[in-house]
Amino acid sequence: MADFALTPNCAMAKAKPLYVCTECGGQSPKWQGQCPHCGTWNTLVETIAAPAPARFASVAGTRSSITPLASVTPRASARVATGLEEFDRVLGGGLVPGGVILLGGDPGIGKSTLLLQAGAALGAAHRTLYVTGEESAEQIALRAQRLALVNAPIELLAEVQLEGIVAAINAASPEIVVIDSIQTVYTEALASAPGSVAQVRECAAQLTRLAKQRGIVVIFVGHVTKEGAIAGPRVLEHIVDTVLYFEGDPHSSFRLVRAIKNRFGAANELGVFAMTERGLKGVSNPSALFLSQHAEGVAGSAVVATLEGSRPLLVEVQALVDPVQGAMARRLAVGLDPQRLALLLAVLHRHGGVETAGFDVFVNAVGGVRIAEPAADLAVTLAVYSSLKNKPLPKKALIFGEIGLAGEVRPVQRGQERIREAAKLGFETFVIPSLNKPKQSLENVDIVAVSRIEEAIDWLRD
Ligand code: TYD
Ligand code: MG
Repeated sequence: MADFALTPNCAMAKAKPLYVCTECGGQSPKWQGQCPHCGTWNTLVETIAAPAPARFASVAGTRSSITPLASVTPRASARVATGLEEFDRVLGGGLVPGGVILLGGDPGIGKSTLLLQAGAALGAAHRTLYVTGEESAEQIALRAQRLALVNAPIELLAEVQLEGIVAAINAASPEIVVIDSIQTVYTEALASAPGSVAQVRECAAQLTRLAKQRGIVVIFVGHVTKEGAIAGPRVLEHIVDTVLYFEGDPHSSFRLVRAIKNRFGAANELGVFAMTERGLKGVSNPSALFLSQHAEGVAGSAVVATLEGSRPLLVEVQALVDPVQGAMARRLAVGLDPQRLALLLAVLHRHGGVETAGFDVFVNAVGGVRIAEPAADLAVTLAVYSSLKNKPLPKKALIFGEIGLAGEVRPVQRGQERIREAAKLGFETFVIPSLNKPKQSLENVDIVAVSRIEEAIDWLRD
């Protein structure tokens, strides 16, 4: 124990604790509830006090000089395919050497499973180190057994101390490192507990530096808080090159991996998996997954073609409009933006002449998908109207279009692709913005082009 106290890191932490404001960067020698510099509350975070120039040295080299852009040769790094096609798709084609990835998601969604599967596939050609802080090596082995990957060429390290992890990476020189999870890693140089903002930030920054220096891929697993943000500092999202979110309804087997940020590829790209008995399986044609199977047309159900990354996805939007049960009318949106719902109800009232004030309104995107696009506006509005009037939409109808505050139906990007995808799946009626109307008429397809919300309501009413 005495030896332990004499290590330089510990001595440093004891000698000079320092607190830095995450808002203004102001420093304070002791923790305070309010930053003495900018006056914001609860923003002081412990950091390493000793000036450590190496930590902040530029990644570009020792001394940079001014260079004309034209004279710099772009370096297209070769991508390393992970062997999981859907995972490669969200990554923009595979892993990039020196790239740092953050994979966030709710507990139990399948982050460890995905990375173990990817690691096992990568391990054959690229030395892969799986650092586990959440589970013991035996637990990982148990999962591997379930995935039929017991003999996978992957190396395990059960370690949570940053210095230990860095030493292991330097000694073993892996090409790919998985840190499961970044919240369990801590450095001796800070006194705060593992998982605290200071620890997560510092450990992530040091591992990122190491990745850039050595040209290795580092994948952090990050937990998501109840509010849905990655626990720990938002700054983590700035440090890394790629931020992926694992989402999906825990009660359904479908899992979506979404790229929120990607320095090496398109953001908003989506990978679709199904969680099976034997791990995650990629779903290469996900369009029809989020449609429920109704034998007859059902009131309150509308299908929208939303664009997820590079491919359209058909999703059923359901609405239930019921007379108010409590003192106040309730509006609830699952998988859709609740603010947007309030806005659409107001437009429906003002421009469509449809009153929902005396009703509870619930809307839901089927299958645990989250639709952020305004292209779902028209489908949501028609689903609400359909439920209110108990009038089903025609079977095989597809709807998309953005609704403006003036009641206009605005075009959406890449409308033709959405129409084509739905036509492929046997959709016959398309309620779409006039400006998205295809130039050539399509066979066996009925196009209802609308430019105002009233027209769409009239179409359903008749
Ligand atoms: P896990 O990868 O441990 O989640 P995370 O790391 O995101 O917390 O996934 C755990 C869940 O996945 C658990 O509920 C069991 C389920 N699962 C399967 O259904 N099939 C499988 O083959 C495996 C390994 C897990
Ligand atoms: Mg896990």
